Amino acid sequence: MSPVSKPLLKTVMGERQERPPLWIMRQAGRYLPEYRAVREKVGGFLELCYTPEYAAEVTLQPLRRFDLDAAILFSDILVIPDALGQKVRFEVGEGPLLEPITPEGLGKLKPDAVLDHLAPVLETLRRVTAELAPDKTMIGFCGSPWTVATYMINGSGSPDQAVARVFALTQPEAFARLIDMLVEASTAYLVAQFRAGADVVQLFESWALNLDEEQFAAYVIEPNRRIVEAVRREIPGAPIIGFPRGAAAMLPVYAEKTGVNALGLDYMTPVAAIDKALPAALPVQGNLDPLRLIAGGEQMEARVEAIIAGFAGRPHIFNLGHGIVPQTPIAHVERLVEIVKRGR
Ligand code: CP3
Repeated sequence: MSPVSKPLLKTVMGERQERPPLWIMRQAGRYLPEYRAVREKVGGFLELCYTPEYAAEVTLQPLRRFDLDAAILFSDILVIPDALGQKVRFEVGEGPLLEPITPEGLGKLKPDAVLDHLAPVLETLRRVTAELAPDKTMIGFCGSPWTVATYMINGSGSPDQAVARVFALTQPEAFARLIDMLVEASTAYLVAQFRAGADVVQLFESWALNLDEEQFAAYVIEPNRRIVEAVRREIPGAPIIGFPRGAAAMLPVYAEKTGVNALGLDYMTPVAAIDKALPAALPVQGNLDPLRLIAGGEQMEARVEAIIAGFAGRPHIFNLGHGIVPQTPIAHVERLVEIVKRGR
């Protein structure tokens, strides 16, 4: 399929559109009753990720309801540790739980098993691309190494990533081995996603916050840069969106040094200031506060128009500034899509 007919892909590749194309982070998920129905039928969350028939179905569900410009592969950033052999569980109401990794435990991980373990996810991608309308962009993704490492080291999410930050500072050699392993596994996984039909991939660096500038350069920029470079060695010109959540003043240097095509912005990022700070042609994605979508109404509509107006001079993909939350009313999502596509 030539990219000419896919507005979202064209935007990632640097072409400004009259109104921004859009997708919604976590667009498949618990705010949709049809997702909850499939989820109940399958049982566990990881089982859903590893069952192509159901994972393809939930990937396509949001596009049946809303006029979105992209499908995003249904999976999770934590399938990489799972594939490396570190057991991952999802407990209702608790989020992900892993057996925390130790320097000794690193040697037991199995980097060679990753693509075999993830074969069902790649099959999901093939099934979805076979069904997707030609004007829709297929987005693949993985977690960035630092973000995935914070879960592997701490054993769960944490508000400040303190355990992982101390590990990185006190066990630099083990930390470097872990990051190397994640760079390699993520590269292989993303290359396989492009070969299975992804048009674009997004690097989710959800925990780019809480780092000083040197840690940010070493833990965030350098591993993301290595992935971008290594993926493009296999897939020349591979379109990549980087989403370093919380990067704040380090966004411009992240974009410049990693070489991503487009920069995902969290909702804390001030629109006019970042528009001024970034190269004029750099595509951006974002950045509505997901809680504005729960509340809906005038405040949401005004903010959507302010974001669109603020980025009107450059290629812009509309999105939330973080994932949609389960209590979001579907009618508000319908209204959001309507005003992004046609204006108020
Ligand atoms: O965007 C999409 O629709 C694609 C699917 C997707 C999921 N997770 C499905 C999911 C994507 C792209 C992710 C990325 C992800 N996963 C991130 C990065 C983005 C972000 O939000 O910062 C992170 C940090 C994770 C790890 C993760 N997975 C957490 C912390 C949780 C629990 C939080 C929660 O909402 O319960 C998950 C579970 C998860 N991943 C769900 C979904 C739909 C909910 C699980 C369920 O159905 O019970």
